[in-house]
Amino acid sequence: MSTKPKNDSQPIAESGLRKGLTSYGDKGFSLFLRKAFIKGAGYTNSALDRPVIGIINTGSAYNPCHGNMPQLIEAVKRGVMLAGGLPMEFPTISIHESFAAPTSMYLRNLMSMDTEEMLRAQPMDAVVMIGGCDKTVPAQMMGAASAGLPAIQLITGSMLTGSHRSERVGACTDCRRYWGKFRAGEIDEAEKDEVNDQLVASVGTCSVMGTASTMACIAEALGMTVPGGASPPAVTADRIRIAEETGTRAVQMAKDGLTIDKILTADAFENALRVLLAIGGSTNGIVHLAAIAGRMGLEIDLDALDKMGDETPVLLDLKPSGDHYMENFHDAGGMATLLRELKPLLKLDAITVTGRTLGEEIDAARPNFKQDVIRKFNDPIYPRGSIAVLHGNLAPGGAIIKQSAANEKLMEHEGRAVVFENAEDLANRIDSPDLDVTAEDILVLKNIGPKGAPGMPEAGYIPIPMKLARAGVKDIVRISDGRMSGTAFGTIVLHVTPESAIGGPLAHVRNGDRIRLSVQNREISLLISAEELAQRIKDCPITEPTAERGYKKLFLDTVMQADKGVDFDFLRAAQITGKTPRK
Ligand code: FES
Repeated sequence: MSTKPKNDSQPIAESGLRKGLTSYGDKGFSLFLRKAFIKGAGYTNSALDRPVIGIINTGSAYNPCHGNMPQLIEAVKRGVMLAGGLPMEFPTISIHESFAAPTSMYLRNLMSMDTEEMLRAQPMDAVVMIGGCDKTVPAQMMGAASAGLPAIQLITGSMLTGSHRSERVGACTDCRRYWGKFRAGEIDEAEKDEVNDQLVASVGTCSVMGTASTMACIAEALGMTVPGGASPPAVTADRIRIAEETGTRAVQMAKDGLTIDKILTADAFENALRVLLAIGGSTNGIVHLAAIAGRMGLEIDLDALDKMGDETPVLLDLKPSGDHYMENFHDAGGMATLLRELKPLLKLDAITVTGRTLGEEIDAARPNFKQDVIRKFNDPIYPRGSIAVLHGNLAPGGAIIKQSAANEKLMEHEGRAVVFENAEDLANRIDSPDLDVTAEDILVLKNIGPKGAPGMPEAGYIPIPMKLARAGVKDIVRISDGRMSGTAFGTIVLHVTPESAIGGPLAHVRNGDRIRLSVQNREISLLISAEELAQRIKDCPITEPTAERGYKKLFLDTVMQADKGVDFDFLRAAQITGKTPRK
C-alpha cells in the first residue's frame, strides 16, 4: 500500500530522489514526473524518501572477472536496505583485459567518463562501485574522484586456482609460463590445450598479484573499501559478506556526507604507494594512482616514490614476485596483516570509508597468527620496494622497472640494441631464425606508448626471441614505452617517457647502439653523445599520430604521458595543488 507523499510543492531538498532534477524549467514538475515514472516500477513513497544508494553494475558476458556480479549486487542491496537506504542499480561500461581491442587501457578513460557522468546525472546520495578486472577499479575511482560524492569501492574478488597434472596453476603468471614452455618446445599442443582448461578455475580476477589484485589492495590502502575488502576470493561467503557490509556502509556515508575528497588525500595516496611497493604490485598501479591523484589535484612524485622503495621491503610472497596466490593472501589475514607490518611507515590518520582512520582500523583488526604468505618486516621476500624509477638520456621523463620480478644479474647490464619499430614489426621478426640477436643484447620496442599503439598496450613484456627461447634463455633486457601485465616477470624497463610516438629519445635508437641499464644507479642510457642524439632528432622529425573522428581522435588529441597517468588532459583537476608522496 502506498504511503502519503511528501508535499512536492515544498522547496526541493538536494538529497535522495530530489537530487539533480532533469531540467524542465519547473523543479516541482521535474520531481513529480520522476516519481511518476519510478512508481511505474512499483515503488512506494516511503521507499522513495530514503537515501538513494547507486550501485554500479559492471556485469557483462564479455567480463568473466565480474561473473559474480549478480550475487554481489543482491548482497549490496540487502546491506543498503538493512541500513534504511534505497538501492538503485545501474550499468556502466565494463572492460576485460582479453576482450578489449586494441587494449583495455585505451578504454579506461572512457569508462571513467561514463562513471563520472552517470554519478553526476542520476540522483544518488552515495555510490557503491563494483569493479575488479584491471582497468575497472581505477576507472571507477577516477570517475568518482571527479564527481565528488560519497563513494565506496567493492571488489569482485580473485578467481580460484586450478590444478594441472597436480601442479597448482592460476592466471595469469602461469598462462605466460606455460606459453613460454610451449614456445620453447617444452610442452606439446595437447598439453597446451589441457592446461588452458585449468588456468582460470572460476569467475573472478587473476589469482596472482597482477594489476587487479594490486588495485584491490590499493583501494583498501586508500581507505576506499571496508576493512578486509581487498582479498576475499570472488566465490566465497567472505566476499558476499563484504558486499553486504559495503551496502550498509554506503548508507552511513550518505548520512554523514563522507565525500571522496575526505578520503583521497595526499596521505591516502602515500599509503597506497607504500602498499604498492610492499606487495610487489603491478607497475600499472603507478599509472593508475597517478591518474586518480591527478583527478584530486595531486601529482605523483616519482623520485620520492623511488626513495620510499629504499625503506619499504616486499613482504607479500605472491606470484609473480613470490610463490603464493590471492586466496592464500586472504587466508593469511589479508591486508590487515600486511598493514600491521607496515604500520610504522603509514600515515595512520588517513580517513577511510568507515569514518575511522586507517590506524584505528588496523588496531581493530583480528590479531595476527602464524602463516607464511605475509612476511615480517625484518624478514622480507625482497629487501627493497618492488619498483625502481630510472632516468637517463633515454628516458628524460623517467622509466620504471619491477626489480623484484627481474633478474639480479641483468639489472646491471650493457648491451647492443636490437630494435623493433612497432608491435607489428616485433610480431613479424621476433621468431625469425634470421634475427640477429644474442642473450647479451637488449630488445627495444618503440611506439607502444599512450599515443603510439594507441592505448599503451601491455606489450612491454616482449617475448624471448624463439631461437633464444629454444636455446634455454629465460630472460633478456627489454625496453619500451609500453606497459606490462602485473602478472609478468623479467628484466623489463617500461613506461619510457616521453614515448617514441611524440619524438622521445627512444624513437631515435638504432640497431647496434649500445644501451646501459643500471638499476643500482637508477640509470637507463643510450650510449651516444648529446650531439649525435640531437642530430638524429633533427634528421628524423616525428609526426604525432592523429585520427579524423570519434573516441580515437579524443584519445590522441588529449591523452597525457605515463607520468600523468595516461589520463586525458581535460579530465585532470583544473589545478595541481600538491605532490605525493611528500619527500
Ligand atoms: Fe581480469 Fe586478469 S583478466 S583480472
